[in-house]
Amino acid sequence: MSIQQYANQYVCDLKAYEPGKPVEETARELGLDPDSIVKLASNENPLGPAPMALDAIRNAAGEMHIYPDGGGYKLRSALAEKFDLDLENVVLGNGSNEVIELLCHCFLNEGAALIAAEHAFVVYKLMATLFGAKYVEVADPNFVHDLDAMADAVTDETRLLFIANPNNPTGTMVDEATIDRFMAKVPDHVVVVFDEAYYEFVNDAPDTLKYVREGRNVIVLRTFSKAYGLAGLRIGYGLGARQVTGILEKARQPFNANEVAQRAALASLADLEHVEATVSNNAHGLAFYETHFQEMGLEYVPSLANFVLVNVGDGDRLFAEMLKQGVIVRAMRGYKLPGWVRISIGTEAENERCLSVMKSVLSGF
Ligand SMILES: Cc1ncc(COP(=O)(O)O)c(C=O)c1O
Repeated sequence: MSIQQYANQYVCDLKAYEPGKPVEETARELGLDPDSIVKLASNENPLGPAPMALDAIRNAAGEMHIYPDGGGYKLRSALAEKFDLDLENVVLGNGSNEVIELLCHCFLNEGAALIAAEHAFVVYKLMATLFGAKYVEVADPNFVHDLDAMADAVTDETRLLFIANPNNPTGTMVDEATIDRFMAKVPDHVVVVFDEAYYEFVNDAPDTLKYVREGRNVIVLRTFSKAYGLAGLRIGYGLGARQVTGILEKARQPFNANEVAQRAALASLADLEHVEATVSNNAHGLAFYETHFQEMGLEYVPSLANFVLVNVGDGDRLFAEMLKQGVIVRAMRGYKLPGWVRISIGTEAENERCLSVMKSVLSGF
C-alpha cells in the first residue's frame, strides 16, 4: 500500500514546476567547466546584484544567528514611500512566487476559480491545481492577454484573476486604457492580480497602483529577482489594497522574508545606477536578438521584458543541442509551444555566443 493514497490528491496529481536548467547540473552532466557555461534560461540579471546590495549582504553575514525582522519594517517602509502607499499596503514574500502562493492559500478552494491567459506564467496553473480550484484559461490572440475575454470569463466562482504584465514567457503587455476598461467591468468578488515581475524594464508601464490607492480588490506583484539581480536571495513583494494584504498577512510564515534578502533589497532600491545599467543592457540585447531573428527569418514575439520568445521549429531539439555546447536556453513545451524557445537577455558577450551557437545548431536542422 502506498503512502500516496493518504496524501493530498491535488499534490500527488501535480506536475512540479521545472526551473531553467542550473549551470552546476549542466557542468556535472556534460563534464564542462561551469565558468564556460552561459545560462540564459531563467530571466536573471546578467550584470549580477547591485554593488550596494553586495555590501549589505556582506555586512549582514555576521548577524545571521538572529531571526529576521518578521514585520519587514525597513524594507516595507521604503517600498511604501517609493510608491506613495502605506506600510499596510506592502506584503513581502520569499520571491513574488510566495505572494502568488499566499493569494491562492487565502482565496482558493475546491469551489473557486482562477482566471489567467493561455500562455501566462505557468505557476498560476500549478497553484490553482494545488488548491483544488478550477483553472480557467482564456485565449490570448497574438500572445497578448485579451482582457475583454478575461472579464467575460468571470463567474460567481472566480476569486483570482491574474494579469502578467509584461507576461512571461511572451514578453507582451496590455496598455493602461485596456486595463482601465477592464477594471470598470470586473466585479468586487474577484481579486485582480497584476504580476509585474518585469516592471522595471518597461518605459511607460501602465499605472496599476492607482487601483491600490482607490482601495479596489487589487494587488500588484513585483520582485527583486529580475532588474535588481537578487533572484538567488528570494525576495519579492505585493502592493495591495489593505483588505487584500491584511488577509495575506495572516497566512504568511512569521519570518518568510529572510534578513539578508531584506537588507540587500533595501540597498538595491537606492542603487539606481545599477538598475539603469541593467535596463540599458537589456534594451541593447533585445534589439540584438530581434534584428538577428529578422535576418534569419525566424518568427519571434516582440518583447518588453528581459527575454524573447522565438519559434525555431523544434524547441526541445534546439535546447538539447545548444546545451551540449554549454548554452542553456528554455524549451517551451510546458507552455504548449513545442516549436519555441525563450532566451533571456545576457551580457553582450553572452548574447553573441548564444546566437552563434544557435545559428550553427539551426543550420543542421
Ligand atoms: C511573471 C512572473 N511572475 C513571478 C515570477 C516569480 O519570481 P520571483 O519568485 O523570483 O519573484 C516570475 C519568475 O520568473 C515571473 O516570470
